[in-house]
Amino acid sequence: MINHLMPPDAERLNNYIESMQRRAASSIGYPGSTDYDYSALFPLLGINLNNIGDPLIESTYELNSRSFELEVVEFFAELFQAPANNWWGYVTNGGSEGNLYGLYAARELYPNGIVYYSDATHYSIQKNVHILGLNSIVIRTQPNGEMDYEDLSDMIQLHRDHPVIIMANIGTTMTEARDDLGQIKAALKHLAVKQHYIHCDAALAGVYSALLQTEPRFDFSRGCDSIAISGHKFLGSPIPCGAVIVRKNYKDRIGQVIPYIGTADTTISGSRNGHSPVFLWYTLKKHGKEGLTKRAQNSLALAQYTRDRLREFGLDAWCNPGALTVVSPVLPARLRKKWQLATEGDICHIVCVPGVTRTMIDDFLADVQTELKTPKVQL
Ligand SMILES: Cc1ncc(COP(=O)(O)O)c(C=O)c1O
Repeated sequence: MINHLMPPDAERLNNYIESMQRRAASSIGYPGSTDYDYSALFPLLGINLNNIGDPLIESTYELNSRSFELEVVEFFAELFQAPANNWWGYVTNGGSEGNLYGLYAARELYPNGIVYYSDATHYSIQKNVHILGLNSIVIRTQPNGEMDYEDLSDMIQLHRDHPVIIMANIGTTMTEARDDLGQIKAALKHLAVKQHYIHCDAALAGVYSALLQTEPRFDFSRGCDSIAISGHKFLGSPIPCGAVIVRKNYKDRIGQVIPYIGTADTTISGSRNGHSPVFLWYTLKKHGKEGLTKRAQNSLALAQYTRDRLREFGLDAWCNPGALTVVSPVLPARLRKKWQLATEGDICHIVCVPGVTRTMIDDFLADVQTELKTPKVQL
């Protein structure tokens, strides 16, 4: 029941809500978990929460959730084995902002550095590189979407007079491939590159890969300098959000104290969402590490089930190790529209994040089977 609106406007809003609820029930192509219930936080929607400025420095604007934000970034710093007393981070508006921040920190350290990223990398990286005015080289990928380390080595060798900024994927958008920090570091060592920075775009798979200890590992103890994740993906939030964690000595080159806000301006955005840190905190507390791990294991099992069933239908479906993403040859348009399957080139994918249920997958599989049996279907 909607008050305060003229009937046509209330009707429009009602229709919109119903249509979004319907579409959410058949959304299996994008990685947003939906198994949450944030109704306990509704009272906060009546308060102008704003975490403007640095999360670790109190502001004169007291309507904020800094203390929750700090707990959230502490959780990620620990999960990603950030060096004690030498890390910093904040809750972002999503993975793209975290990537921008990581590359910004890299540029402040190495203004003439070259960014190397694979051609399976999320589009935000190309945009961020452009915004920052950095030079970059796109590296070939292997068939599974992972960086081609030989090509990386060759490209670095050709530009040995420039510091190296690596943008490693921990879960590429389409095939959820993980770039191997071990192989990247071996290439840097072999070429005697002393000035390097490794940013991990772990927007998609960072949280559950760390929880499940999926190989290859990618955390700070394995040599990365910053990590960005999306909060609305595996953890789940109706508001896009994320987090970035960086080695503190690199971050200290960024930001200045602003008297108007009584804190330091060290983040990309000025005003920052004060609600999403509470959402993330709520999910972390509700599930705990153990619950989150269990959630990841269930999703992994569902992804494997989906892959195996599609293969039984004769489709060449596959998953990278530890991935919640099931890659399939492009399916008929009707199916892709109904189930909102992201498509690129000759593949589309299903992402079995928490909230995607066995029932949804079985309904989807039944649709696939029907389509495959229908004559004149073109794959
Ligand atoms: C690998 C990867 N990186 C970055 C992003 C961007 O994250 P966000 O949408 O949270 O900005 C995505 C989003 O799909 C992604 O898949």
